[in-house]
Amino acid sequence: MAVETHIEVTDLRLAYGHREVIHGISFDVRRGEIFGIIGPAQSAKTSLLRCLNRTIDFTPDTHVSGSIKIDGQDVRKTGSVYALRRKIGMVAPLPVGLPLTIYDNVAFAPRCAGLTRRSALAPIVERCLRQAALWDEVKDRLNSLGTRLSGGQQQRLTIARALSHQPEVLCLDEFSIAIDPVTTMRIEDVLKELRREMTIILVTNLTQQARRLADRTMFLWNGDIVEIGTTDVIFGDRPKDRRTYDYVQGIFG
Ligand SMILES: Nc1ncnc2c1ncn2[C@@H]1O[C@H](COP(=O)(O)OP(=O)(O)OP(=O)(O)O)[C@@H](O)[C@H]1O
Ligand SMILES: [Mg+2]
Repeated sequence: MAVETHIEVTDLRLAYGHREVIHGISFDVRRGEIFGIIGPAQSAKTSLLRCLNRTIDFTPDTHVSGSIKIDGQDVRKTGSVYALRRKIGMVAPLPVGLPLTIYDNVAFAPRCAGLTRRSALAPIVERCLRQAALWDEVKDRLNSLGTRLSGGQQQRLTIARALSHQPEVLCLDEFSIAIDPVTTMRIEDVLKELRREMTIILVTNLTQQARRLADRTMFLWNGDIVEIGTTDVIFGDRPKDRRTYDYVQGIFG
């Protein structure tokens, strides 16, 4: 299969006030790959994701330069920021459930987009809950509150919600930080399935998770790219940069 660029980042810089935290980075993400991003705390992993879907715009006094293109279209020059955010599903470290029923959590975005009929919404809700490997556990209680689910179930509900507007890119920011290893493995299996349908950007503090899932991984450190490589190189005996080896081996970070 030919390699196709889906997201192209060129000379991206980000400053909060006078403090630059992303220092002119360039990389691309290929269509249909799982692109891992690893790096110690404060490397600007979350900030990078926020530039991608432009939620960085909510923080006052931020300065962004360079470009991020999705399918050749610059996200900062796109007509509608809502159209951009529909293209990108975002899953945060802790589940952010809406105070609604399980059904309504997943139906929320499609309803905002104008779908109101149950006959149209119900199949979407079922598809997303199945994709997030939650359907079997909740299909008999779709009308109970999402907040009554366990932490791991709520995180899968968040994924279901992120899928409800059929994003072409799914970003996950340390999704497993608050869930047990068994649920983490279940979600990892979900991601392996989803990659057939979308591009996945996986920010993780668990280097072994990137090793298990990512096609290529970027090591970000203090807002600079140390190295981008395939999983065998980054996690092998001889990555290009000694710092990658030390970080992956747990010598620092
Ligand atoms: N809203 C903000 N205002 C000012 N500075 C911020 C803001 N958000 C993040 N920063 C700074 O930007 C830098 C990168 O933070 P960011 O949260 O992107 O890193 P991270 O790699 O996601 O870290 P972690 O692994 O802890 O989640 C940090 O030095 C942080 O203090
Ligand atoms: Mg972060």
